[in-house]
Amino acid sequence: MTLVEEYLQIRKYSEQVCEPLQTEDYVVQPVVDVSPPKWHLGHTTWFFETFILKPFSSNYQVYNDDYNFVFNSYYETVGNRVIRTDRGNLSRPGVNEIYQYRAYVDEAMVNFLANALNDEVRELLVLGFNHEQQHQELLLTDIKYILGNNPLFPVYVKDKKEVSVIQNEPGWIDIPAGVYEIGYDGTGFSFDNELNRHQVYLHDFAISKTLVTNAEFLEFIHAGGYENFNYWHSEGWDWVKSNHIASPMYWHLMDGEWFNYTLGGLLPVDLNAPVSHISYYESYAYASWKGMRLPTEFDWEVAAKHFNWGERWEWTESAYLAYPGFSKAPGAIGEYNGKFMVNQKVLRGASIATPQNHSRITYRNFFHPHLRWQYTGIRLVK
Ligand SMILES: [Fe+2]
Repeated sequence: MTLVEEYLQIRKYSEQVCEPLQTEDYVVQPVVDVSPPKWHLGHTTWFFETFILKPFSSNYQVYNDDYNFVFNSYYETVGNRVIRTDRGNLSRPGVNEIYQYRAYVDEAMVNFLANALNDEVRELLVLGFNHEQQHQELLLTDIKYILGNNPLFPVYVKDKKEVSVIQNEPGWIDIPAGVYEIGYDGTGFSFDNELNRHQVYLHDFAISKTLVTNAEFLEFIHAGGYENFNYWHSEGWDWVKSNHIASPMYWHLMDGEWFNYTLGGLLPVDLNAPVSHISYYESYAYASWKGMRLPTEFDWEVAAKHFNWGERWEWTESAYLAYPGFSKAPGAIGEYNGKFMVNQKVLRGASIATPQNHSRITYRNFFHPHLRWQYTGIRLVK
Protein backbone atom coordinates (compact mmCIF):
# COMPACT_ATOMS: atom_id res chain seq x y z
CA MET A 1 0.00 0.00 0.00
CA THR A 2 1.32 3.49 -0.79
CA LEU A 3 1.46 6.17 1.91
CA VAL A 4 -1.43 8.02 0.24
CA GLU A 5 -3.57 4.89 0.22
CA GLU A 6 -2.69 4.24 3.85
CA TYR A 7 -3.50 7.85 4.75
CA LEU A 8 -6.91 7.69 3.07
CA GLN A 9 -7.77 4.30 4.53
CA ILE A 10 -6.99 5.40 8.08
CA ARG A 11 -8.85 8.69 7.69
CA LYS A 12 -11.89 6.92 6.29
CA TYR A 13 -12.01 4.44 9.15
CA SER A 14 -12.44 7.25 11.73
CA GLU A 15 -15.52 8.38 9.84
CA GLN A 16 -16.81 4.83 9.53
CA VAL A 17 -16.63 4.45 13.33
CA CYS A 18 -18.97 7.46 13.57
CA GLU A 19 -21.41 6.37 10.85
CA PRO A 20 -24.00 4.87 13.26
CA LEU A 21 -24.17 8.11 15.30
CA GLN A 22 -26.93 10.68 15.33
CA THR A 23 -25.79 14.30 15.23
CA GLU A 24 -26.39 14.90 18.95
CA ASP A 25 -24.17 11.90 19.86
CA TYR A 26 -21.18 13.74 18.36
CA VAL A 27 -21.33 16.64 20.78
CA VAL A 28 -21.60 15.54 24.43
CA GLN A 29 -18.84 14.95 26.98
CA PRO A 30 -20.42 13.09 29.91
CA VAL A 31 -17.13 12.92 31.88
CA VAL A 32 -13.80 14.64 31.42
CA ASP A 33 -12.01 11.56 30.05
CA VAL A 34 -14.60 11.06 27.31
CA SER A 35 -14.21 13.51 24.44
CA PRO A 36 -17.04 14.29 22.05
CA PRO A 37 -16.72 12.24 18.82
CA LYS A 38 -16.69 15.42 16.72
CA TRP A 39 -13.73 16.67 18.76
CA HIS A 40 -11.77 13.50 17.93
CA LEU A 41 -12.56 14.01 14.23
CA GLY A 42 -11.37 17.61 14.36
CA HIS A 43 -8.34 17.01 16.57
CA THR A 44 -6.89 14.20 14.40
CA THR A 45 -7.29 16.50 11.39
CA TRP A 46 -5.62 19.37 13.25
CA PHE A 47 -2.70 17.02 13.96
CA PHE A 48 -1.93 16.55 10.23
CA GLU A 49 -2.54 20.23 9.54
CA THR A 50 -0.31 21.44 12.41
CA PHE A 51 2.57 19.00 12.24
CA ILE A 52 2.77 18.34 8.48
CA LEU A 53 0.94 20.84 6.27
CA LYS A 54 1.77 24.08 8.13
CA PRO A 55 5.51 23.45 8.52
CA PHE A 56 6.19 21.51 5.31
CA SER A 57 3.63 22.40 2.61
CA SER A 58 4.77 25.79 1.33
CA ASN A 59 1.52 27.13 -0.16
CA TYR A 60 -0.87 25.59 2.38
CA GLN A 61 -3.64 27.93 3.62
CA VAL A 62 -4.81 27.15 7.16
CA TYR A 63 -8.51 26.19 7.10
CA ASN A 64 -9.50 28.32 10.08
CA ASP A 65 -7.03 30.06 12.41
CA ASP A 66 -9.36 29.63 15.41
CA TYR A 67 -9.32 25.83 15.15
CA ASN A 68 -5.90 25.65 16.79
CA PHE A 69 -7.51 26.80 20.04
CA VAL A 70 -10.36 24.32 19.75
CA PHE A 71 -8.50 21.21 18.55
CA ASN A 72 -5.12 21.42 20.28
CA SER A 73 -5.26 18.69 22.92
CA TYR A 74 -2.31 19.16 25.24
CA TYR A 75 0.61 20.63 23.27
CA GLU A 76 1.94 23.58 25.28
CA THR A 77 4.40 24.23 22.45
CA VAL A 78 1.52 24.90 20.05
CA GLY A 79 -0.26 27.46 22.23
CA ASN A 80 -3.42 28.03 24.24
CA ARG A 81 -6.41 25.75 23.92
CA VAL A 82 -9.89 25.10 25.22
CA ILE A 83 -9.70 23.38 28.62
CA ARG A 84 -10.37 19.68 28.41
CA THR A 85 -13.56 19.75 30.48
CA ASP A 86 -15.08 22.23 28.02
CA ARG A 87 -14.79 20.11 24.88
CA GLY A 88 -18.43 19.07 25.27
CA ASN A 89 -19.60 22.67 25.60
CA LEU A 90 -18.61 23.54 22.05
CA SER A 91 -21.70 23.47 19.88
CA ARG A 92 -19.53 25.10 17.19
CA PRO A 93 -17.81 24.21 14.96
CA GLY A 94 -20.72 21.98 14.05
CA VAL A 95 -20.46 18.38 12.90
CA ASN A 96 -20.87 19.33 9.22
CA GLU A 97 -18.17 21.99 9.48
CA ILE A 98 -15.79 19.46 11.00
CA TYR A 99 -16.43 16.99 8.16
CA GLN A 100 -15.70 19.86 5.73
CA TYR A 101 -12.47 20.57 7.63
CA ARG A 102 -11.51 16.89 7.27
CA ALA A 103 -12.19 16.96 3.53
CA TYR A 104 -10.16 20.17 3.09
CA VAL A 105 -7.14 18.80 4.97
CA ASP A 106 -7.41 15.42 3.23
CA GLU A 107 -7.29 17.08 -0.17
CA ALA A 108 -4.26 19.14 0.83
CA MET A 109 -2.56 16.06 2.26
CA VAL A 110 -3.15 13.99 -0.88
CA ASN A 111 -1.61 16.79 -2.98
CA PHE A 112 1.29 17.13 -0.57
CA LEU A 113 1.97 13.38 -0.47
CA ALA A 114 2.41 13.37 -4.24
CA ASN A 115 5.78 15.05 -3.62
CA ALA A 116 8.96 13.29 -2.55
CA LEU A 117 9.05 13.18 1.26
CA ASN A 118 12.12 13.52 3.41
CA ASP A 119 12.68 11.27 6.44
CA GLU A 120 11.40 13.84 8.92
CA VAL A 121 8.08 14.23 7.12
CA ARG A 122 7.77 10.49 6.61
CA GLU A 123 8.24 9.90 10.35
CA LEU A 124 5.67 12.57 11.25
CA LEU A 125 3.23 11.09 8.76
CA VAL A 126 3.51 7.61 10.28
CA LEU A 127 3.15 9.17 13.73
CA GLY A 128 -0.01 10.88 12.43
CA PHE A 129 -1.36 7.50 11.24
CA ASN A 130 -0.70 5.94 14.63
CA HIS A 131 -2.11 8.98 16.40
CA GLU A 132 -5.36 8.76 14.45
CA GLN A 133 -5.56 5.02 15.19
CA GLN A 134 -5.22 5.74 18.90
CA HIS A 135 -8.10 8.16 18.57
CA GLN A 136 -10.14 5.55 16.65
CA GLU A 137 -9.96 3.34 19.72
CA LEU A 138 -10.91 6.28 21.94
CA LEU A 139 -13.74 7.16 19.55
CA LEU A 140 -15.28 3.74 19.99
CA THR A 141 -14.86 3.63 23.76
CA ASP A 142 -16.06 7.22 24.13
CA ILE A 143 -19.10 6.46 21.97
CA LYS A 144 -19.78 3.45 24.19
CA TYR A 145 -19.61 5.66 27.26
CA ILE A 146 -21.90 8.28 25.74
CA LEU A 147 -24.52 5.73 24.68
CA GLY A 148 -24.03 3.43 27.67
CA ASN A 149 -24.68 6.24 30.14
CA ASN A 150 -27.88 7.24 28.41
CA PRO A 151 -30.90 5.78 30.25
CA LEU A 152 -32.33 4.62 26.92
CA PHE A 153 -29.26 2.39 26.34
CA PRO A 154 -29.17 3.07 22.59
CA VAL A 155 -27.70 0.38 20.37
CA TYR A 156 -24.58 1.47 18.48
CA VAL A 157 -24.64 -1.41 15.99
CA LYS A 158 -27.06 -4.31 16.34
CA ASP A 159 -25.26 -7.58 17.19
CA LYS A 160 -21.94 -5.76 17.58
CA LYS A 161 -19.68 -8.23 19.39
CA GLU A 162 -17.29 -7.35 22.20
CA VAL A 163 -15.48 -10.65 22.08
CA SER A 164 -13.20 -11.79 19.31
CA VAL A 165 -12.36 -15.22 17.94
CA ILE A 166 -9.16 -15.31 20.00
CA GLN A 167 -9.01 -18.64 21.77
CA ASN A 168 -6.59 -19.96 24.35
CA GLU A 169 -6.85 -23.30 26.10
CA PRO A 170 -6.91 -22.68 29.85
CA GLY A 171 -3.58 -23.32 31.52
CA TRP A 172 -0.38 -21.75 32.77
CA ILE A 173 2.90 -20.93 31.10
CA ASP A 174 6.06 -21.27 33.16
CA ILE A 175 8.69 -18.63 32.53
CA PRO A 176 12.13 -19.39 33.99
CA ALA A 177 14.12 -16.78 35.90
CA GLY A 178 16.71 -14.92 33.88
CA VAL A 179 17.78 -11.76 32.12
CA TYR A 180 15.43 -10.77 29.29
CA GLU A 181 15.47 -8.11 26.57
CA ILE A 182 12.62 -5.59 26.83
CA GLY A 183 11.58 -2.87 24.37
CA TYR A 184 11.20 -2.41 20.64
CA ASP A 185 14.02 -3.58 18.38
CA GLY A 186 12.35 -3.77 14.95
CA THR A 187 12.80 -1.54 11.95
CA GLY A 188 9.20 -0.31 11.67
CA PHE A 189 7.29 2.26 13.69
CA SER A 190 7.28 2.31 17.47
CA PHE A 191 6.39 5.00 19.96
CA ASP A 192 9.30 6.63 21.79
CA ASN A 193 8.10 5.10 25.08
CA GLU A 194 9.00 1.60 23.76
CA LEU A 195 12.67 2.63 23.58
CA ASN A 196 15.42 1.94 24.50
CA ARG A 197 15.66 -1.82 24.40
CA HIS A 198 17.23 -2.90 27.64
CA GLN A 199 17.76 -5.86 29.93
CA VAL A 200 15.57 -6.80 32.88
CA TYR A 201 15.99 -9.62 35.38
CA LEU A 202 12.82 -11.61 36.07
CA HIS A 203 12.21 -14.13 38.80
CA ASP A 204 10.44 -17.31 37.70
CA PHE A 205 6.68 -17.09 37.41
CA ALA A 206 3.68 -18.75 35.81
CA ILE A 207 1.17 -16.71 33.78
CA SER A 208 -2.36 -17.64 32.79
CA LYS A 209 -3.01 -18.32 29.11
CA THR A 210 -6.53 -16.94 29.48
CA LEU A 211 -8.06 -13.72 30.73
CA VAL A 212 -10.33 -13.70 33.78
CA THR A 213 -13.91 -14.25 32.60
CA ASN A 214 -17.14 -12.60 33.69
CA ALA A 215 -18.13 -15.87 35.42
CA GLU A 216 -14.89 -15.82 37.42
CA PHE A 217 -15.33 -12.16 38.28
CA LEU A 218 -18.88 -12.84 39.46
CA GLU A 219 -17.41 -15.27 42.01
CA PHE A 220 -15.39 -12.36 43.39
CA ILE A 221 -18.57 -10.27 43.65
CA HIS A 222 -20.52 -13.10 45.30
CA ALA A 223 -17.64 -13.71 47.73
CA GLY A 224 -17.96 -10.10 48.92
CA GLY A 225 -14.83 -8.90 47.15
CA TYR A 226 -16.11 -5.34 46.94
CA GLU A 227 -16.95 -5.35 50.64
CA ASN A 228 -13.67 -6.55 52.13
CA PHE A 229 -10.93 -3.95 52.50
CA ASN A 230 -8.28 -6.66 52.86
CA TYR A 231 -8.08 -7.17 49.08
CA TRP A 232 -7.68 -3.50 48.21
CA HIS A 233 -5.04 -0.82 48.23
CA SER A 234 -5.99 2.03 50.57
CA GLU A 235 -6.49 4.31 47.56
CA GLY A 236 -8.59 1.65 45.81
CA TRP A 237 -10.73 1.10 48.89
CA ASP A 238 -11.38 4.85 49.16
CA TRP A 239 -12.37 4.81 45.49
CA VAL A 240 -14.78 1.89 46.00
CA LYS A 241 -16.42 3.57 48.99
CA SER A 242 -16.68 7.10 47.66
CA ASN A 243 -17.98 6.00 44.25
CA HIS A 244 -20.19 3.13 45.52
CA ILE A 245 -18.50 0.66 43.18
CA ALA A 246 -19.91 -2.88 43.33
CA SER A 247 -19.40 -4.29 39.82
CA PRO A 248 -17.57 -3.58 36.56
CA MET A 249 -18.63 -0.47 34.65
CA TYR A 250 -21.73 -1.01 32.46
CA TRP A 251 -23.08 -3.83 34.67
CA HIS A 252 -26.66 -3.49 35.93
CA LEU A 253 -28.42 -5.80 38.37
CA MET A 254 -32.03 -6.07 37.20
CA ASP A 255 -34.47 -8.37 39.02
CA GLY A 256 -31.57 -10.43 40.34
CA GLU A 257 -29.92 -10.87 36.95
CA TRP A 258 -26.76 -9.12 35.75
CA PHE A 259 -27.01 -7.21 32.50
CA ASN A 260 -24.21 -5.49 30.67
CA TYR A 261 -24.36 -2.53 28.29
CA THR A 262 -22.48 -3.43 25.11
CA LEU A 263 -22.18 -1.69 21.76
CA GLY A 264 -24.91 -4.11 20.72
CA GLY A 265 -27.18 -2.82 23.50
CA LEU A 266 -28.10 -3.99 26.99
CA LEU A 267 -27.65 -7.78 27.18
CA PRO A 268 -27.36 -10.46 29.87
CA VAL A 269 -23.73 -10.72 31.02
CA ASP A 270 -21.86 -13.18 28.78
CA LEU A 271 -20.32 -15.48 31.38
CA ASN A 272 -17.64 -16.82 29.05
CA ALA A 273 -16.44 -13.42 27.83
CA PRO A 274 -13.37 -11.84 29.43
CA VAL A 275 -14.33 -9.37 32.16
CA SER A 276 -13.99 -5.80 30.93
CA HIS A 277 -14.25 -2.17 32.05
CA ILE A 278 -12.53 -2.70 35.38
CA SER A 279 -10.03 -0.37 37.03
CA TYR A 280 -6.50 -1.24 38.05
CA TYR A 281 -7.79 -1.18 41.63
CA GLU A 282 -10.34 -3.90 40.86
CA SER A 283 -7.79 -5.96 38.94
CA TYR A 284 -5.42 -5.81 41.89
CA ALA A 285 -8.19 -6.70 44.37
CA TYR A 286 -9.31 -9.65 42.25
CA ALA A 287 -5.74 -10.99 42.00
CA SER A 288 -5.23 -10.50 45.69
CA TRP A 289 -8.50 -12.36 46.47
CA LYS A 290 -7.18 -15.25 44.33
CA GLY A 291 -3.87 -15.21 46.21
CA MET A 292 -2.09 -14.24 42.98
CA ARG A 293 -0.82 -11.04 41.36
CA LEU A 294 -0.92 -9.11 38.10
CA PRO A 295 2.04 -9.42 35.72
CA THR A 296 4.58 -6.63 35.54
CA GLU A 297 4.83 -5.18 32.05
CA PHE A 298 8.12 -7.06 31.67
CA ASP A 299 6.55 -10.38 32.70
CA TRP A 300 3.86 -9.73 30.11
CA GLU A 301 6.23 -8.82 27.28
CA VAL A 302 8.36 -11.93 27.84
CA ALA A 303 5.38 -14.28 28.15
CA ALA A 304 3.04 -12.86 25.49
CA LYS A 305 4.56 -14.78 22.60
CA HIS A 306 3.18 -17.94 24.25
CA PHE A 307 -0.51 -16.93 24.19
CA ASN A 308 -2.97 -15.11 21.95
CA TRP A 309 -3.81 -11.60 23.09
CA GLY A 310 -5.74 -8.59 21.84
CA GLU A 311 -9.25 -8.85 23.33
CA ARG A 312 -8.68 -6.60 26.35
CA TRP A 313 -6.08 -4.12 27.45
CA GLU A 314 -4.41 -5.90 30.35
CA TRP A 315 -3.58 -3.99 33.52
CA THR A 316 -0.04 -4.60 34.72
CA GLU A 317 1.59 -4.03 38.08
CA SER A 318 4.06 -1.60 36.45
CA ALA A 319 4.17 2.14 36.86
CA TYR A 320 4.44 4.01 33.56
CA LEU A 321 8.06 5.11 33.57
CA ALA A 322 10.76 5.92 31.06
CA TYR A 323 13.02 3.12 29.86
CA PRO A 324 16.78 3.60 30.25
CA GLY A 325 18.06 6.11 27.69
CA PHE A 326 14.55 7.40 26.85
CA SER A 327 14.73 10.76 25.12
CA LYS A 328 11.98 13.12 24.06
CA ALA A 329 11.91 14.43 20.51
CA PRO A 330 12.57 18.19 20.25
CA GLY A 331 9.55 20.51 20.00
CA ALA A 332 5.85 19.73 20.32
CA ILE A 333 6.19 16.05 19.35
CA GLY A 334 8.30 15.56 22.49
CA GLU A 335 5.09 16.21 24.44
CA TYR A 336 3.46 13.10 22.96
CA ASN A 337 4.31 10.51 25.65
CA GLY A 338 7.04 11.51 28.08
CA LYS A 339 5.18 14.15 30.03
CA PHE A 340 2.57 11.59 31.11
CA MET A 341 5.05 9.35 32.92
CA VAL A 342 3.69 9.95 36.41
CA ASN A 343 0.94 8.31 38.49
CA GLN A 344 -0.22 5.98 35.72
CA LYS A 345 -0.20 2.20 35.26
CA VAL A 346 0.93 0.43 32.11
CA LEU A 347 -1.52 -1.74 30.17
CA ARG A 348 -0.32 -4.27 27.65
CA GLY A 349 -1.90 -5.97 24.66
CA ALA A 350 -4.75 -4.40 22.71
CA SER A 351 -8.53 -4.57 22.79
CA ILE A 352 -11.38 -5.32 20.44
CA ALA A 353 -11.55 -1.53 19.93
CA THR A 354 -7.92 -1.30 18.77
CA PRO A 355 -7.53 -0.89 15.00
CA GLN A 356 -5.88 -3.86 13.30
CA ASN A 357 -2.07 -3.82 13.24
CA HIS A 358 -1.90 -0.90 15.62
CA SER A 359 -0.53 -2.69 18.68
CA ARG A 360 2.53 -4.92 19.13
CA ILE A 361 4.17 -6.97 21.87
CA THR A 362 6.26 -3.98 23.08
CA TYR A 363 3.34 -1.47 22.94
CA ARG A 364 2.73 0.41 26.19
CA ASN A 365 -0.68 1.86 26.89
CA PHE A 366 -1.20 3.79 30.12
CA PHE A 367 -4.07 5.04 32.24
CA HIS A 368 -4.73 6.30 35.72
CA PRO A 369 -5.59 3.42 38.08
CA HIS A 370 -9.26 4.35 38.59
CA LEU A 371 -10.22 4.54 34.91
CA ARG A 372 -12.52 1.90 33.45
CA TRP A 373 -13.97 3.14 30.19
CA GLN A 374 -11.43 1.28 28.03
CA TYR A 375 -11.82 -2.43 27.32
CA THR A 376 -9.56 -3.39 30.21
CA GLY A 377 -9.09 -6.91 31.52
CA ILE A 378 -7.18 -9.14 33.95
CA ARG A 379 -4.52 -11.79 33.40
CA LEU A 380 -3.16 -13.49 36.53
CA VAL A 381 0.36 -14.47 37.50
CA LYS A 382 1.41 -16.83 40.28
FE1 LIG B 1 -4.34 13.23 20.21
